[in-house]
Amino acid sequence: MKKVKVSIIGAGNVGSTLASILSQKGYADIRLIDIEGEVAKGKAIDISQQCAISSVDIEVIGGKDYSLVEDSQISVITAGIARKPGMKREDLLETNAKIVKEVVENLMKYSPKAYIIVVTNPVDAMSYLAYRVAGIEKNRVMGMGGVLDTARFKYCIREKLRCSYNSINAIVLGGHGDEMVPITSLTTIGGKTLSKLLHKSEIDEIVSKTKNGGAEIVNLLKTGSAYYAPAMAVAKMIESILFDKKEILPCSALCEGEYGINNLFFGVPVKLGCKGVEEIIELPLTKEEIELVRRSSESVKNTCKLLERLGVM
Ligand code: APR
Repeated sequence: MKKVKVSIIGAGNVGSTLASILSQKGYADIRLIDIEGEVAKGKAIDISQQCAISSVDIEVIGGKDYSLVEDSQISVITAGIARKPGMKREDLLETNAKIVKEVVENLMKYSPKAYIIVVTNPVDAMSYLAYRVAGIEKNRVMGMGGVLDTARFKYCIREKLRCSYNSINAIVLGGHGDEMVPITSLTTIGGKTLSKLLHKSEIDEIVSKTKNGGAEIVNLLKTGSAYYAPAMAVAKMIESILFDKKEILPCSALCEGEYGINNLFFGVPVKLGCKGVEEIIELPLTKEEIELVRRSSESVKNTCKLLERLGVM
């Protein structure tokens, strides 16, 4: 049987880590595209030789030529620049918008039926841009942010409570930025709500550490941003789509009225299956959380306005 094909645009830290993770699962052939064609080719050969050790019989091919992505089921966009210390994700807007536009135009030429997962930051605005440039159905474009933010939230909870990740039920909504909203009211550990286990000040501290999770890594790395967890987050989304798992994962998806948000890509719980974004799930939030979500959506809206002013759409 012919394997599915996943193409990854951007063979940098996130893209090549994702290619390595996916390669070891063995269910898809992989294409790795980068403006630096030789780098993409070299990393694809390296990953192929990794497969030779683990006896995974897939094809991993890299280069700069977009014809390689032909007939992909999923295309992941990680091309662009990453944050350096002191930068917000929004500071990447102008440079990354031009790159994402060019990438999407090329993807549409060679793999117009693929589902698109955007990773490039600022991811909510970049997902909106990809959707507009691609001109395809809204269920086929989504951004990765919430799965990563939720992982950071769970990491902070586990650090505090010393419990298994399996026992933590948590979700982070909102834009993938400083105003993300960890939904503390619905967070449970072994069935107990967070507020039963921790004082408000401790919960506030976890929320603040979660929001700062990406910046903390940027400050430590100094030359770029996180990539292991982001790559794993994309792999989780890909599997829910390819295997029609219908997992409910927080993703940046086009909202049309959900959570009172209109015409904006925004981090919401999404049922991800073989049709991509199959449903946006509306959770029963507290008044305070609704207000935080609204504020976060204003911030994403402002970034999208800047994008419109740049004239790339
Ligand atoms: N076409 C294809 N590839 C490009 C283009 C382009 N026009 N422009 C840049 N690239 C490639 C670079 O050559 C580089 O290999 O994108 C890659 C980006 O890799 P890194 O600099 O290592 O960045 P990474 O950490 O992977 O992050 C990529 O994902 O998480 C987000 O904020 C992050 O926006 C950033 C993106």
